Amino acid sequence: MCGIVGYAGKGEAALKVFSGLEQLEYRGYDSAGIAVSDGHKINIVKKCGRVRLLKARLNQLTGGVGIGHTRWATHGKPSDVNAHPHASGAVVVVHNGILENYSELKNSLSAAGARFVSETDSEVIAASINAAYSRGNCNFCAEPNLCDPSAPHALLRALHTSAQTFKGSYALMVMCEGFEGFAVARFKSPVIVGAGDDGFYCASDEPALAGSCSSVYALQDGEYALITPSGIRLYDCDLSPVERKFSPNRARSAAFDLCGNDRYMIKEICESPAAVKNTVSAFASAEGDIDGIRRADRFIFLGCGTAYHAALMGKIYLERFARATTEAEYAGEFRYKDPVLTPRSAVIAVTQSGETADTVEAAKLAKTLGARVIAVTNSPRSEITRVADAVVPVEAGTEICVAATKSYSGQLVALYMLAKRLAGESFSEICALPDALGKVIKSADICALADMCARASGVYFLGRNADYALALEGSLKMREVTYIAGGGYPAGELKHGTLALIDENTVSVFIITDGELASKSATAAEQVLSRGGKVAIVTCCKGIAAAFAGRAETVEIPDLGKYLTPVLAATVLQKLAYRTAVILGRDPDKPRHLAKSVTVE
Ligand code: AGP
Repeated sequence: MCGIVGYAGKGEAALKVFSGLEQLEYRGYDSAGIAVSDGHKINIVKKCGRVRLLKARLNQLTGGVGIGHTRWATHGKPSDVNAHPHASGAVVVVHNGILENYSELKNSLSAAGARFVSETDSEVIAASINAAYSRGNCNFCAEPNLCDPSAPHALLRALHTSAQTFKGSYALMVMCEGFEGFAVARFKSPVIVGAGDDGFYCASDEPALAGSCSSVYALQDGEYALITPSGIRLYDCDLSPVERKFSPNRARSAAFDLCGNDRYMIKEICESPAAVKNTVSAFASAEGDIDGIRRADRFIFLGCGTAYHAALMGKIYLERFARATTEAEYAGEFRYKDPVLTPRSAVIAVTQSGETADTVEAAKLAKTLGARVIAVTNSPRSEITRVADAVVPVEAGTEICVAATKSYSGQLVALYMLAKRLAGESFSEICALPDALGKVIKSADICALADMCARASGVYFLGRNADYALALEGSLKMREVTYIAGGGYPAGELKHGTLALIDENTVSVFIITDGELASKSATAAEQVLSRGGKVAIVTCCKGIAAAFAGRAETVEIPDLGKYLTPVLAATVLQKLAYRTAVILGRDPDKPRHLAKSVTVE
């Protein structure tokens, strides 16, 4: 959450940083700001709201070195004053992360004379670095003359000195007046550096540098960088210079091209067949010892949000195919429950971004308890891949819309193939999926149902087994992009309480892709109808569609068997959420209060 970008080179830093921020906006869009050095002074523009609001003021920023930020608010409401960059004395900072001990540091800095104008933890970081910089405080420099604050490295040393006092997570870029460059630090929040044709860049993730840097290096926890118009210098945790290998930037600027679509959400739903196809092809190149977990006596699937719903499906696949003992848990719950794991446990961590704090920390915990960890991720160089023993790739490509769509389809097929492989079974049937998916995306007519949902006071999603996992995801998607209240429930649970919510203003969407359980879910749908609730059915079962004709909105999908049909149904639910959001005038790409990569707790 929060995106940061920095540039030092021959170009106009304001333009470079602005365009990087636009590409990072999915990490947060509460406010945005840019600081640029004109060689003497650092000028700052910042504003509550979207990055584009800065455009009219970019002419106030001239110079070749700058840093910028797009915010997902943690400490302090979205406002101009809480927007980054934050300045303290000569020092200007952008921060992604959370400074957990900010209150304690703020008190001691205030006692020493620092003044604060915002409610943010990040301003405390600026004040701390400014204090260290003003002192010329250098615990790590053997040569006293280098302790001159005007020497370039003084900024880096001040950052390093301050960082020793920080608790929490941070990706930081720091400028100071009189120095044409900026210093970078990272701990638990991602940051990459890259060289372009016209200068040197730094950003929260690869898509921000798509088109400007063909190769990048992701800083590791505790590493530092100093970026000037002459280059990038990297340092280890003791500020000793280090050399690192840069790798090709996999992000493509084409991901930002809407290609004639109104929104990224619909564009990315339409890219699901390619995501599935590419994930199937990439499975053979999975890195690490996947088969090593065959010996596990217990499998725990972890994830957050949509990735958790994919994890639930992974559990169903593995249980059915390998008859293994499996569980699925929210990563954020798992990490705080003192889990019982042994070296014979296997954890399968599912995460699109590979940076979700709860999932990464849960995976680290599992490792320290001796379990083997497999990551299923769409981000091959992300933090989760450094933690995991093996990585199963999802090849959905860059996903810009905050709501996960094509990455979910990719996760489902990656988990399907993983389960089949662990069960010693082939999975050639999956080859039929991309075409079928393409047809469903084109033909599924959800317009009447979306109209019905847009008028509803609540939309509920119901199903059994795999269809229940889908119901949870369908409901999350609907809530996330439309803000309509609702939930996902097991169809059999309806009569145990949820039925009380039903009235003529509610819509209950039943997902029925498992022929063996169809009549059970149909009974629950009848119970809703008989209480005056509106019903919709997404099904591959012809008999069910016929039985509810004229009484419920039905969306029919092809039958690819009970384990792959859910992938088809998922795209119908995604389209439904998208269409409903559009009817209601919401922005499905950037739902209120949300951000794509949740790198804080
Ligand atoms: C889904 O639409 C969400 N935006 C969200 O639930 C997301 O899936 C979750 O934050 C997990 O992200 P990850 O896959 O990057 O770990």
